[in-house]
Amino acid sequence: MNDQAQKLRKMIQTSKETQAKTLAVVSGKGGVGKSNISINMAVQFNNRRLRVLLFDLDVGMGNVNIILGSTSTYTLSDFLYQDFPLERIVYQTDEGISYISAGNGLNEAIEWNAAMVSKLLEGLREIQLQYDYIIFDMAAGATSATLKILLAADDIFVISTPEPTAMTDAYSMMKFMCAEGTDSDFFLICNRADNEKQGKETLERLQKTALKFLQKEVVLLGVLPEDAHVRKAVISQTAFSIKFPRSSVSTKLENLVDQYLNQDRFLKKSHEPGSFINKLRQLFFKEE
Ligand SMILES: Nc1ncnc2c1ncn2[C@@H]1O[C@H](COP(=O)(O)OP(=O)(O)OP(=O)(O)O)[C@@H](O)[C@H]1O
Ligand SMILES: [Mg+2]
Repeated sequence: MNDQAQKLRKMIQTSKETQAKTLAVVSGKGGVGKSNISINMAVQFNNRRLRVLLFDLDVGMGNVNIILGSTSTYTLSDFLYQDFPLERIVYQTDEGISYISAGNGLNEAIEWNAAMVSKLLEGLREIQLQYDYIIFDMAAGATSATLKILLAADDIFVISTPEPTAMTDAYSMMKFMCAEGTDSDFFLICNRADNEKQGKETLERLQKTALKFLQKEVVLLGVLPEDAHVRKAVISQTAFSIKFPRSSVSTKLENLVDQYLNQDRFLKKSHEPGSFINKLRQLFFKEE
């Protein structure tokens, strides 16, 4: 395994090519809108002609392919258990959104071993060369090995709703990530707000709490409204930005992505070439 790790390190050091920036979309509480936000952010990136890969990491409960109304024969577990390159499990929707499915069956549960970790690292290293951004749609909470991917991501989008339960859990998630020593930038999004004021208050409260108790500065990215178009789009299995591009939630998300991309140009510090894979390797193999 050390050999594998060394081989990887060498490959990273010699690679001068551009590597995708890695973004993870997380929450504490489930059902706050991570998957819809990940998917529609990917649509927005794609509309801006950025090469984006949407990577579903909600293993066994994945729903990216369902919300996109797309069929994927192979999933992440096929890649890990069989001899496939990662590229083989990348699918494209009719609209040109590239994604990897996490699978949605109990048989998808992954029992991680060192060989699988190495395979994943190698797959990610290769795929990072082909995209500008990789968006990881995470499972709710903090439990599985996929969490290491979250901790290694360049930028972390923390999603909350105005509900106190969602806010408390979002804070717990940030606390966990800080305790694990992440140096990623945190971007806060409030979803399902009744109005802009309520959303802003939610974000500001979370920002203040993070600063006071975690000494972590977080970026307030934006507020997305409660909008019936989200549910309608999910039912019709199309991303809301595609189905209802002029809806309130779509235009707000569009602005939010613009704001992120404007900031992104100035926040390159965490995007050293190879930093994502290096961090991941350390997290998995606990090396120096
Ligand atoms: N802005 C919104 N307005 C109205 N309904 C919304 C909004 N965002 C999400 N929803 C509703 O919440 C449901 C759950 O959203 P989603 O699946 O994106 O959450 P999630 O955080 O990924 O959930 P999980 O933790 O289970 O992965 C959607 O199917 C939709 O019905
Ligand atoms: Mg989800």
